Amino acid sequence: MARFSTRAILASTRSPHVDQTPSAVPIYQAAAFSADDAAELGDVLTGARPGYAYSRIDNPTTAALAAAVADLEGAEAGLAFATGMAAIHAAIVSTVHAGQTIVATQALYGTTRDLLVRILGGLGVATEFVDPTDLVAVEAAMAKTGAPVLYVETVSNPTIVVSDIAALAAIAHSHGALLLVDNTFASPFACRPIEWGADLVMHSATKYLSGHADVLAGVVVGSSERIDALRPILVDVGAALAPLAAFLVLRGLPTLSLRMQRHSETALDLAAWLEGQDNVERVFYPGLPFDPGHEIAKRQLDVFGGMLAFELKGGREAGRAFLDAMQIAERTASLGAVRTITTHPPSTTHRQLDAAALAASGIAAGLLRCSVGLEDVEDLREDFERGLDAARATLAKGGGAK
Ligand SMILES: Cc1ncc(COP(=O)(O)O)c(C=O)c1O
Repeated sequence: MARFSTRAILASTRSPHVDQTPSAVPIYQAAAFSADDAAELGDVLTGARPGYAYSRIDNPTTAALAAAVADLEGAEAGLAFATGMAAIHAAIVSTVHAGQTIVATQALYGTTRDLLVRILGGLGVATEFVDPTDLVAVEAAMAKTGAPVLYVETVSNPTIVVSDIAALAAIAHSHGALLLVDNTFASPFACRPIEWGADLVMHSATKYLSGHADVLAGVVVGSSERIDALRPILVDVGAALAPLAAFLVLRGLPTLSLRMQRHSETALDLAAWLEGQDNVERVFYPGLPFDPGHEIAKRQLDVFGGMLAFELKGGREAGRAFLDAMQIAERTASLGAVRTITTHPPSTTHRQLDAAALAASGIAAGLLRCSVGLEDVEDLREDFERGLDAARATLAKGGGAK
């Protein structure tokens, strides 16, 4: 009989054989999977037969998540990543090489912009930024640069700009380029960009897909051929998602439709209410009839989503006062969670920018961005009332220089 240490190792790594199907995808918390013989291991590692060998390459829980998101997005295949940024990085890198230029829309998540400018720029890939709502400018940039990729977000920061994916796909494809779409803000419940012509769709699953602000994850979906092209990047960069994280995102998916409906109903209610407030200059929400993105949103989105922004009279000081008065909404920079999150970009995420730089980015000093959560709408309205009162007080004091 083997000795104690050996027995402890063998006894504790004997996996149960289960014939019945579990009601949730199990967390395959294992770094590696053993084969019955050397030939099987070789075949699995070279892809000659399906199976698992090493969790950086593939893992049943992360593969189940990728397949689930691909299903919801109407895509052939998917691949899960450690974060949304890892997913975006792999998607972009699979489509360009040094010496080429990417055309990307100006309305872009800040870290994606940084990835394009600082990281990919340093490796010889240039980026030309265009206004996503100016299709003539997009067309001209594609023609001028010969870009292999047009990169957009379905709905983007911080002024909740809606991109016309069908029109952008037509432009990209007429130039022989691919359309890459970050669908994080919309989620596949609101929009499935592949139906509108996108080639690769990326998600920060940290947000609506998981929905509970307790995990970081990313997913890319597309055709099997394009997803196969991403696999070596995932494996070589080591951007694999942990099985527990995949489980947590899977746990969010069954309630995605319910959450998105509720996020959207409450956001529309708050947006319409905010429009009638005396110290609110402007509300950005695609569900509002006069929002510049409303017509595209009606066509392209099944619900208008949980993200809204609004501009307060009184500039930075009013924005800061509003944020400080919140008792229900969280003051943080993320989004897509059960709890409402409010940010004041000029004093948080964009605090380095002076007034001129903020104006150039289309960010008014009194702009607030809100990820509307699942709380009772009456409580959120009361919280917003507290914020607006505090912002009004700064006006009365004669503060709030813009
Ligand atoms: C639109 C969008 N894309 C991508 C990301 C990056 O996702 P992650 O933080 O999971 O890397 C974010 C994060 O805020 C985002 O808002």
